[in-house]
Amino acid sequence: MTGEVKNLLKHLIYSSRPFGFDQNILNGILVNSVDNNKRNQLTGALICRSDLYLQYLEGPIESINETFKKIENDDRHVEIKVLKEGMHADRLFPKWAMRDDPVRSWMWSREEVDTGALDNISASDAFNIFQRHSKELLDLQ
Ligand SMILES: Cc1cc2nc3c(=O)[nH]c(=O)nc-3n(C[C@H](O)[C@H](O)[C@H](O)COP(=O)(O)O)c2cc1C
Repeated sequence: MTGEVKNLLKHLIYSSRPFGFDQNILNGILVNSVDNNKRNQLTGALICRSDLYLQYLEGPIESINETFKKIENDDRHVEIKVLKEGMHADRLFPKWAMRDDPVRSWMWSREEVDTGALDNISASDAFNIFQRHSKELLDLQ
């Protein structure tokens, strides 16, 4: 039992609105994240567009908490909302220190984001987005 609990991974999903989004800023975030996350045994995915960040982070509890504290204080985005936190036995993105993808057509239009689509999203909807995303990546292999 203790062993099982110890091996559980935390995951955290949040959304935010980019502040000053451009390709250079995004590349900077990604390069830094990949380096840090490898060191901290974190994996995950960042879905982004100029009007939206949606990130899934998974890994040891301490690493998630420490990293999210830094993310919350980052002035490259605003309106940070935690959509889900939980424990999970397996990683959805075991191969990606931080996979990045644009918002897909099955997610939301800019109009939907503008009119508050992310205000109404449930924890399970948020998790399902990343489960589907992770499955698509596995199907591509
Ligand atoms: C949308 C967004 C996602 C981020 N994701 C991560 C991440 O997954 N891992 C990480 O270490 N930093 C991430 N950051 C950067 C952190 O906010 C912070 O700048 C960085 O962790 C500081 O790293 P340092 O301690 O090496 O200077 C993200 C920032 C933004 C704006």
